[in-house]
Amino acid sequence: MCGIVGILGKGAVAPQIVDALKRLEYRGYDSAGVATLEKGALARRRAPGKLRALEDKLAKEPLTGHAGIGHTRWATHGGPSEANAHPHATERVAVVHNGIIENYKELREELADHGVVFSSDTDTETIVHLVTAELDAGKSPQDAVPAVLAKLRGAFALAFLFKGEEDLMIAARRGSPLAVGYGDGEMYVGSDAIALAPFTDKITYLEDGDCAILTHTGVSIRDCDGNGSKVARVTQKSTVSAALIEKGNYRHFMAKEIAEQPDVVGHTLAHHLDMAKGRARIPEGIDFKKLDRIAFSACGTAYYAGLVARYWFEKLARIPVDIDIASEFRYREPPLKPGGLAILISQSGETADTLATLRHCKEQGMQIASVVNVTSSTIARESDAILPTLGGPEIGVASTKAFTCQLATLAALAVAAGKARGVLSDDDEQRLVASLVELPRLMAETLKLEPQIERIAKDLAKAQDALYLGRGTSFPIAMEGALKLKEISYIHAEGYAAGELKHGPIALVDEKMPVVVLAPYDTLFEKTVSNMQEVAARGGKVLLVTDPDGAKEAAGEFETLIVPKSYAFVTPMIYAIPMQLLAYHTAVFMGTDVDQPRNLAKSVTVE
Ligand code: F6R
Repeated sequence: MCGIVGILGKGAVAPQIVDALKRLEYRGYDSAGVATLEKGALARRRAPGKLRALEDKLAKEPLTGHAGIGHTRWATHGGPSEANAHPHATERVAVVHNGIIENYKELREELADHGVVFSSDTDTETIVHLVTAELDAGKSPQDAVPAVLAKLRGAFALAFLFKGEEDLMIAARRGSPLAVGYGDGEMYVGSDAIALAPFTDKITYLEDGDCAILTHTGVSIRDCDGNGSKVARVTQKSTVSAALIEKGNYRHFMAKEIAEQPDVVGHTLAHHLDMAKGRARIPEGIDFKKLDRIAFSACGTAYYAGLVARYWFEKLARIPVDIDIASEFRYREPPLKPGGLAILISQSGETADTLATLRHCKEQGMQIASVVNVTSSTIARESDAILPTLGGPEIGVASTKAFTCQLATLAALAVAAGKARGVLSDDDEQRLVASLVELPRLMAETLKLEPQIERIAKDLAKAQDALYLGRGTSFPIAMEGALKLKEISYIHAEGYAAGELKHGPIALVDEKMPVVVLAPYDTLFEKTVSNMQEVAARGGKVLLVTDPDGAKEAAGEFETLIVPKSYAFVTPMIYAIPMQLLAYHTAVFMGTDVDQPRNLAKSVTVE
C-alpha cells in the first residue's frame, strides 16, 4: 500500500505534494512525510498519524524547495512512528516507497556489516543506504539507481531525490503502480492518476521493470530490469477529474458513494447491456460455449461479489464455478486447464493477492478476464479481457459503489454466458435484462430508507457483536453486511448462511445479540423465516430486511426494513444498500473515522 508522489515544479512544491497526498491517503494513513531540496540540500518533514499532523508541522516549519517527494504510509515493517515515516534519506539521497522489499533483512545485515547505522525499522531504509554507497563509489544517480534495483527482491514503486540535483528525479516500478504526469515546465510522479488530477491529465503508466528519469521538461523511460535501454510508453489523457474526488455536500465519501449507486450502476449496466435490444453484451474474446468451468478469485468485498456471481453463472449459464479468496488460490494448487477462463474481480486493480492469482493463472495458460474499476490498473493491463465497472473513483476505504457495480457487471455477464451457452432463450434474456434496467430506480427507492436505518443504527451502535443471516444470493450479502459493520464501526459481526446457524453460531444468541436477517420473498423465504424464529425464540433481537410481500407474511413480529419488490435476480444489488447504510450510520453514531477506518488501506498492494 502507501501512496507516493514526486514533483519537479516551478515554485514551492510542498503544498502541491500535500494536496496530492490528500488524494492518496486512501492508500494508508499511518504517517506522512515530504522531502524537498532546499538550496540543493535535502530537507524532510515527517509526522506519524494522519496527513493533518504533517500539515501542522509544515505550517510551523515550511519547506520552499522546487523539487520534492511525498509519502503517505500503511505500516508494514515497523510501527507508525516518525522514525519509520517516509521519505527515508541520507545526506545524498531521499526515497519514498510503496511495496515491500522481501530481502531487506539480508541487505540490512550486509549494510550493517559495512558500518551503516539505521534510524528506522523499515525495509525501505536499506534502499537509501544502498544508493548512497553507489553514489559514494562514484556512480551517477542514473547509474546508481538501476544498480540498486538489481539487488532488490519484492514489489516497489519508488521516487528518488538527490542532493544538489534540482532538475532530476528518478522513479522506478516493479509490482506496485506508478504514473508519470506531464505539466508545462513541471513533471510529476504519483501512485495513481487521482493524485495528479489537479496538476495534469497527461499521464504515462510505467510498466514493471521501468525506471523514469525526470527533468522539468521531460522524461526518459528505461528498461532497468533489462539492459537499461530506452523504452517507449504510451502517453494518455487521464479521465479522472479532480471534481470526482471531492466530498461535495456529504459528510463522508462513503455517504456520497452510497448515494451515487443508482447512477453508477446505471452507467455500468449501460456499458454491458444493449438496453434497446434487451441483450447482454458478450465481451470480445470470451467464448462461453467452449468453457467447462470458470475460476473466480478476489479479496474482501470483491470476493463476495464473486460469491454472488457463482449463483448466477451456475443457475443461468449452467457452468460450474470455482471461487477462491485470492490469497488462498495458488496455495491450494488447484488443477487449472489451459484455455480455461479465470475471472478476477478488483476495484483498485492493484490488490497484490489478486494480481498474483492472475499471473499464476496466466502461467497455467488460462485466459484472464478482469472486473475492475480502475481500467488503467495493473490487473486490467495484464488481462485478456477487461470488464469495467463504471463506478468512478471510490475514496471511502469501505467499498460500496464498487461492489454494486461489480455485481451489475457480473449479472450482465452471467446473462450473456447463459445466452451464449444456449441455456437462456431470447425471452429469458430480455426478461433478465429488463430486471437489470429497472435496477437503478429500485436502488434509488431503497436509499429512501435512510432515516429509518439511521434510527435502527442508534441501537446497533450499542451492540458488541452482530449476526447477519441470508440464504442463496443473500448469504454473500449477509457476509458483506457483516464486513461493512466490522470495518467501519469496529463492532464484531459475522455473516452466516441462515441454515448454518443451528450448527453452532446459535449458541451466541441472547437478548443482547442483534441478528440482521436478509429475506427477500422468494422460494427460500419460508426457510429463512424459520431460522429467524429460532433466533427470536432465544431472545435474539431480529432486524428483518425484506420486501412488501415478505413483510406481510412476517407481519408485526419483528423490526422490519421494507425494500422495494424486485426480481429475485437483482435482489443482491438492492439488499446491499441497507447493509451499507446500517454500517455507515452505526459508525457515525460511534464516532469512528468512517472514511479511513483504523488499520485499513484502500488498496492492498502487499500479500
Ligand atoms: C472492504 C473492502 C476490501 C476490498 C479488498 C479488495 O470494504 O473494500 O475488502 O474489497 O481489499 O480490494 P480490490 O477490490 O481493490 O481488489
